[in-house]
Amino acid sequence: MKAIVVNDQAAGMAGMTLVERPEPTAAINDVIVEVHASGFVPTEMAWPSTWTDRRNQDRTPSIPGHELSGVVSALGYGTTGLSVGQRVFGLADWHRDGTLAEFVAVEARNLAPLPGDVDFTVGASLPISGLTAWQGLFDHGRLQAGRSVLVHGAAGAVGTMVTQLAREFGAYVIGTGRSADRPKAFDFGAHEFVDLENDTLEDIGGVDLVFDVIGGDIQERSVRLVRAGGTLVSVVGPVEARPADGLAVDFVVEADRAQLTEIVQRVRDGRLRTNIGHVAPLDDAVAALNPTERSKGKTVVLVRP
Ligand SMILES: NC(=O)c1ccc[n+]([C@@H]2O[C@H](COP(=O)([O-])OP(=O)(O)OC[C@H]3O[C@@H](n4cnc5c(N)ncnc54)[C@H](OP(=O)(O)O)[C@@H]3O)[C@@H](O)[C@H]2O)c1
Repeated sequence: MKAIVVNDQAAGMAGMTLVERPEPTAAINDVIVEVHASGFVPTEMAWPSTWTDRRNQDRTPSIPGHELSGVVSALGYGTTGLSVGQRVFGLADWHRDGTLAEFVAVEARNLAPLPGDVDFTVGASLPISGLTAWQGLFDHGRLQAGRSVLVHGAAGAVGTMVTQLAREFGAYVIGTGRSADRPKAFDFGAHEFVDLENDTLEDIGGVDLVFDVIGGDIQERSVRLVRAGGTLVSVVGPVEARPADGLAVDFVVEADRAQLTEIVQRVRDGRLRTNIGHVAPLDDAVAALNPTERSKGKTVVLVRP
């Protein structure tokens, strides 16, 4: 099968090559998915799981990409809940070969049915940003209606999902980003916007929940804005600062079929819009994933255009 592989951690994204690889085989409880579209997070080359397995052994050449949509083509021993020919979408294991390939082996529980009226490109754009937003707001942030949320990177892949879900849930949403991100943050539902390049973050006063996708100094300053009993949720590694009278949580997104189903239902009925930037066929994916200019929104690779 055709697949993009990486061999050299030092080379990063520039080390991606399109090659022929053997098709994967299904282990217990796996399905093999014929990939139609693959989502990609630009920080993948910095994740240890791109390079090593769960025993910390080198697993190169590894196939990146952990979001997918496609059609089930085979079942592993004992696999239940999904059928051959079924449209699916979801999250591939961090430590196994990923989705920038014509086929991928995934545990069935990490996937959900993709309804026939949601196209594969949209399906592949949802799992990481949608589940991260859902889990950060509701599982870890324990958001309640009427509370305020500071959403950093509100025009980004995760931030646009956080903004929409928080707003639907009845929260007051303050988005942040660069100057150019203002219209997009409002378009996705932010009530207010802080331009981190020109405005003073501290002018917003207190908030109940900070959803951080930036870290560093921005995180440190945001922590001081968390009201008593509030929470900082971070998806950029261990938190560097904690609220004086609140919680700090950092987490890595997990596959969850029920939550994927909630997310895709919202896409179908118009409550949730995805934030797709560039779409490229697999043959052009190496160039598309190494853009000369920073692309906005999620890059989706069409494996079967
Ligand atoms: N732990 C997890 O489970 C998990 C899950 C998903 C994502 N993540 C991480 O979360 C981060 C965001 O992911 P994403 O897919 O949403 O990325 P993205 O689409 O690039 O969104 C990030 C947004 O934040 C903006 N931003 C970053 N630094 C900024 C700064 N200093 N000032 C103002 N704006 C800034 C970016 O603007 P520019 O593009 O102009 O810089 C962009 O609009 C990544 O580091 C990713 O690895 C973690």
